[in-house]
Amino acid sequence: MKEQLKIISVVGARPNFMKIAPIARAIEEHNRKGNQPEMVSLIVHTGQHYDEKMSKLFFDDLGIPKPDYNLEVGSGSHACQTAEIMKRFEPVLQDEAPDYILVVGDVNSTIACALVAKKLGIKVIHVEAGLRSFDRTMPEEINRILTDAISDVLFITEPSAEKNLRDEGIPKEKIHFVGNVMIDTLLQHKAKAEKSTVLQELGLTENSGSPVRPYAVLTLHRPSNVDNHAILSDILAAVSEISDRMVVVFPVHPRTLNQIKKTNIRLNAQVKLIDPLGYLDFMKLVFHSRFVMSDSGGIQEETTVLGIPCLTLRMNTERPVTVEQGTNIMVGVDKSRILEESLKIIDGRCRKGSRPELWDGNAAHRMVEILRAV
Ligand code: UD1
Repeated sequence: MKEQLKIISVVGARPNFMKIAPIARAIEEHNRKGNQPEMVSLIVHTGQHYDEKMSKLFFDDLGIPKPDYNLEVGSGSHACQTAEIMKRFEPVLQDEAPDYILVVGDVNSTIACALVAKKLGIKVIHVEAGLRSFDRTMPEEINRILTDAISDVLFITEPSAEKNLRDEGIPKEKIHFVGNVMIDTLLQHKAKAEKSTVLQELGLTENSGSPVRPYAVLTLHRPSNVDNHAILSDILAAVSEISDRMVVVFPVHPRTLNQIKKTNIRLNAQVKLIDPLGYLDFMKLVFHSRFVMSDSGGIQEETTVLGIPCLTLRMNTERPVTVEQGTNIMVGVDKSRILEESLKIIDGRCRKGSRPELWDGNAAHRMVEILRAV
């Protein structure tokens, strides 16, 4: 066993922060206990997301150590953003010469940094490997397939991922079923999130703290939904009708806000458009909601663990366990289907679901144990 293992963890976009937080903590604990090998852990933020509400808030809420490097790449086309991350990440790896880099999820920062490392002969750890929507028009699906193809250690969250990786020829020894680090974060921060005052601030509760009226939550950011005027209008028309029955709180991603402004879509006053929320406020909002409508990946997992009904506004999911065992229902983007499923939930006809295997808050510790031995 080496005496020291140097690992550079990469974050770039909003959903990465919740995945890195428990890993950073588990490494710190491992070192604090004097376990071998010592793990030297550095964090690189590519700057793919940079607005205070899309990035800094999450570092604060989740207590993530300040990044050792910020590459400040910002927004751009896929090619420009990916290329810029690669150009700026390469000298960091040349200077630091880590044993491993650790990438999470499926964003452009994930594949960009994995590719740079691999070509420098540095091993790649991929957290949340093997998820497949089988929809290659999704930029994330391309990022997933390519990252997995060049990774040396693949940590998976659900059994479907192992089958997908094996079907793509990835050797079994590289694949480790450890559970879900996103759920580590959720369970670690649940009590703290409950203290958020966001419901009072949004006028959804009395000062006593309990919700006075039921509400639903909406998030929307996939280019396939928001960059297409007809689809966006249809989804928002359905949401407006739902809001006749209950308030819909809609924290808006910057990409979506731009599209809503551009297309002049008018929303019912019962749809509350608000700025993106930090982790703790958003989780508090979800905990007390009647149901969630979203095209996000992570929210399908979080609602499953919380037992909150989730209507996923997509045609497919790379997280099938949330449909098979959890509360997730794929409704696509058809207005009548969204309305039909929402009304069922509003009328109390929904299933509770169960928590998938190993989504128990200990995934990051399992990872660290495996890394000790690789
Ligand atoms: C990215 C990920 C997506 C993930 C999502 C979470 C890729 C290919 N996509 O999509 O998988 O689910 O993050 O949010 O990596 N913008 C800001 N401020 C920011 C960041 C973005 O205003 O801090 C605006 C810019 O106009 C930018 C647009 O949002 O052009 C899109 O940002 P980008 O990082 O390209 O992709 P996301 O849609 O956020």
